Amino acid sequence: MAEDLIIPKGSRAEQYAALYPQIQGLLAGENDQTANLANIAAAIKEVFGFFWVGFYLVKENQLVLGPFQGPVACTRIPFHKGVCGHAYTTAESIIVPDVALFPGHIACASASKSEIVLPVKNQVGDVTMVLDVDSDVLNDFSAVDQMGLEKILGLINEAWQ
Ligand code: SME
Repeated sequence: MAEDLIIPKGSRAEQYAALYPQIQGLLAGENDQTANLANIAAAIKEVFGFFWVGFYLVKENQLVLGPFQGPVACTRIPFHKGVCGHAYTTAESIIVPDVALFPGHIACASASKSEIVLPVKNQVGDVTMVLDVDSDVLNDFSAVDQMGLEKILGLINEAWQ
């Protein structure tokens, strides 16, 4: 396992390309879900400096805070609430350029200005968790982030989901 992430300066697309194999290395040989989700969140936060990066896990019929990096956050989100709930119910990634304009957005921190949330599905297509990434910059996320993050989430293994 690599001890440090090595990310060359460059475009965000280039940084995702450099990050992907290093996350693959971090996960190799480890089958503990908490450990692996924690390292994924930490690696994304470290490389891009986003305000908040973390997982909400489907538990007890709601979304419950999982491994994350950033300020303290809401612990439980109903399936039909917020951007996370939207990604859960639609099972689709969603980019919110301005959270103030998203009806029902849950403001865990006022510094959060834009957001991307991506669902993670199991083999039968059920959403088992979502990845929530918040930025303190308006309109910070594009299709580049969606593709880069979806590829990383593809590494989440059935064996430890
Ligand atoms: N903003 C999210 C809630 C989670 S926090 O931002 C960490 C939402 O509306 O679902």
